[in-house]
Amino acid sequence: MSAPARYNCVAVTLHWVIALAFLTMFVIAFTGMELDGKTGEMLLGLKRWDWYVVHKSLGVAIFVLVALRIVWRFTTQLPTDDTSPKWDVYISRLNFVLLYVVMIGMPLTGYVMSAAGGHPINWFWLGELPNLLPLNKPLASTAHDVHTDVMPIVIYVIVGLHFAGAMFHYFIFKDNVLWKMLPLSCLKRR
Ligand code: HEM
Ligand code: HEM
Repeated sequence: MSAPARYNCVAVTLHWVIALAFLTMFVIAFTGMELDGKTGEMLLGLKRWDWYVVHKSLGVAIFVLVALRIVWRFTTQLPTDDTSPKWDVYISRLNFVLLYVVMIGMPLTGYVMSAAGGHPINWFWLGELPNLLPLNKPLASTAHDVHTDVMPIVIYVIVGLHFAGAMFHYFIFKDNVLWKMLPLSCLKRR
């Protein structure tokens, strides 16, 4: 069976939902979660600790979506890249691997810092998620530093290069790499 010309609709949907969710997580972290908890400052009707609930809940949901995406990736055929030079294919593969590392690493370190720190995760006010880790303050502190200091910088670099690569293909190589992942291609009649 020959390789498909583009990513299938499930892969495209998961790609853009996860990309948007990542952006949302950063916006929440640097706005709602920075509100003054003592004065009860609010944003969109929610206080600081409400935004923590939203951030943690959405982060856990992202973890599930990323897991689905990985299963989908290994059980369906991917489009091949026959037009790009070999060096470009290798660099983009390395970029994808690092993207998956942060896509798993961010929710995981977030979960570990909360669970090992003894802070329950209230999933969208519906109920607490099971705490799978014993109390371990040094582990929680390391996970916290990786989550807030290391991973965000890695994300800026990796996603920045990813975006630049997509633009490079579109404007310089003028090939169909970006088109393979565009949502509109899903809606097109075959
Ligand atoms: C895709 C997933 C995630 C992304 C992109 C993300 C991103 C971030 C960012 C950028 C910060 C702020 C760093 C700073 O203030 O300098 C942050 C803080 C935080 N995140 Fe996440 N996060 C994710 C998942 C999670 C999860 C799943 C949890 C917990 C279950 C979590 C818990 C927290 C907490 C508690 C803080 C605040 C730490 C503090 O106040 O010092 N995050 N996150
Ligand atoms: C900033 C806007 C973005 C654009 C324009 C974009 C574009 C693309 C394109 C065109 C591809 C297909 C590349 C190819 O097959 O050669 C792709 C793949 C991918 N993108 Fe993005 N992307 C963006 C944001 C993101 C973000 C924020 C993430 C992760 C948080 C991400 C994760 C991935 C992954 C993991 C793949 C590899 C797919 C696979 O083969 O499994 N992308 N992206």
